[in-house]
Amino acid sequence: MLNKDSAIGVFDSGIGGLTVLHQIIEALPRENTVYLGDTARAPYGTKSVETVLRYSFENSEFLIEKGVKIVVVACNTSTAIALSQLRDRFSIPVIGVIEPGVRRAIRSTRINKVGVIGTEATIQSGAYTHALKAANPAIEVYSRACPLFVPLVEEGWIDNDVVEMTAKAYLQGFKQSGVDTLILGCTHYPLLKKAIRRFLGGGVRLVDSAEETAKEVAIVLRRISVMRKNGKGTHSFFVTDAPDRFIKVGRRFLGEKVESAVRIER
Ligand code: DGL
Repeated sequence: MLNKDSAIGVFDSGIGGLTVLHQIIEALPRENTVYLGDTARAPYGTKSVETVLRYSFENSEFLIEKGVKIVVVACNTSTAIALSQLRDRFSIPVIGVIEPGVRRAIRSTRINKVGVIGTEATIQSGAYTHALKAANPAIEVYSRACPLFVPLVEEGWIDNDVVEMTAKAYLQGFKQSGVDTLILGCTHYPLLKKAIRRFLGGGVRLVDSAEETAKEVAIVLRRISVMRKNGKGTHSFFVTDAPDRFIKVGRRFLGEKVESAVRIER
């Protein structure tokens, strides 16, 4: 039986979803959370639709077996490919990161020109373009896959010469198309905000889907009357491989809250 003390379940292909968890904990400090990082099978961004669908179902099932009251799909790639099917399959609310990011981008743009960056699978799915156009058919969307950003962040390289060169190579086109808003459509990209902002300049607003998703979680919990009113939340972490690396890299995303992680079999 789901109740206020049931946890918020969050899954990602690995570590990056901790950016979303971080925002959820900031916005909802009383909530208990359960995080699953599918570290054995990451990255998802280069995988096929069938594979990402299967992994996303398995991750959601794991969290639901843990008794969560809501599933947050922190991974942009999983959201792009699997969200609607997850919603059809499961009876508890399933929240993705794309709709909240799109809503913010629509509010942000003054000239109806929005850029989107993400993994290859996310960009190829067209999910962001579709959602932006559905919200406002007049929006011009410019998108670009930036696959090298993920390993850079995992290496802890978030603001050095290599990041600067990579940002230049990937983002040059956005300067030419003149977007005024850029959606950071991948879990890892919020950590590169500084470098991205430096390259694009202050005239381009960066949309962090993680922040918007946390707000959406709060709205849904309130709506279905399962928001926790007292106490301080506890946080547990599960991974499908290499818990020690998860803890080490995870601290870069979430600080000391990542104390331990339990490895599950896949
Ligand atoms: N979590 C993925 C995303 O947000 C990035 C890493 C991966 O490719 O698995 O799309």
